[in-house]
Amino acid sequence: MKHLIDIKDLSVEEIDKMIEVAKDIIANKEKYSHKCDGKLLATLFFEPSTRTRLSFEAAMLRLGGEVLGFSEASSSSVSKGETVADTIRTVGCYADIIAMRHPKEGAPLVASEKSTVPIINAGDGGHNHPTQTLTDLLTIKCEKGRLNDLTIGLCGDLKFGRTVHSLISAMSRYKNIKFVLISPKELVIPEYIKKEVLDKNNIEYIETNDIEEHMSELDILYMTRVQKERFFNEEDYIRLKDYYILNKEKLEKAKKDLCVMHPLPRVNEISTDVDDDPRACYFKQAQYGMFIRMSLIMKMLGVE
Ligand code: CP
Repeated sequence: MKHLIDIKDLSVEEIDKMIEVAKDIIANKEKYSHKCDGKLLATLFFEPSTRTRLSFEAAMLRLGGEVLGFSEASSSSVSKGETVADTIRTVGCYADIIAMRHPKEGAPLVASEKSTVPIINAGDGGHNHPTQTLTDLLTIKCEKGRLNDLTIGLCGDLKFGRTVHSLISAMSRYKNIKFVLISPKELVIPEYIKKEVLDKNNIEYIETNDIEEHMSELDILYMTRVQKERFFNEEDYIRLKDYYILNKEKLEKAKKDLCVMHPLPRVNEISTDVDDDPRACYFKQAQYGMFIRMSLIMKMLGVE
């Protein structure tokens, strides 16, 4: 049994294979519609979600399996004081695989140590979101045709943005990747990511607070939301929430084949006038999320 807690739990070869399977699923959906007959996925979401939970559930249903779970801690016995460890041991008696989101960093790792079935980290606090990263990698592969030789702008909340942390970690294993890290000084990328991922792998990066400064160099612009739920102080959130608003005007100097991504949910950081631009990939990205989760569920359940 193998769990997915951090994107590094998967080798580059495993990720590349999973992407190839996801591309085959996109091309031959019917072929996969009974791959998980008789299997049960539990989605345990202690924190709100639209895309991750529903795409996991859609993925399992499209594979012929079934789903159960809860979408908020208040509807589980955690609200009566049950520990996450006891919850996981119990759900492992019912389901074959568990996707779990929790506001506390490290909670899915703790859960995996007690679990009798594979655990998938569906987001833990401001730490990691490996299945969003798999979604992002499939999006990049399908939209750009490659995972090497890319200049990637990451913009917004780089401090608390777990999707950004996991994506940097994953892309740092591919060749000739350069990052432009765009954030206000209050939300810069954590030092441990600079030291342990970027510097350690000799990855070139630039830090700036100006979204337009390097726009013309980017192959990918990955926008992120300033996350209200991670701030201790509402004043700071209000001051920073609209720091970046990507609109048509700001895209004027961008490459014609730029890929604008966003893990969603969006609040204000991408103006809706960008949605119809052919470079806007964020809704396609949400759909790729379902296909890569189908591929992941099959891999983790050992389905050929
Ligand atoms: N991208 C993402 O994790 O979205 P949800 O919070 O809606 O699951």
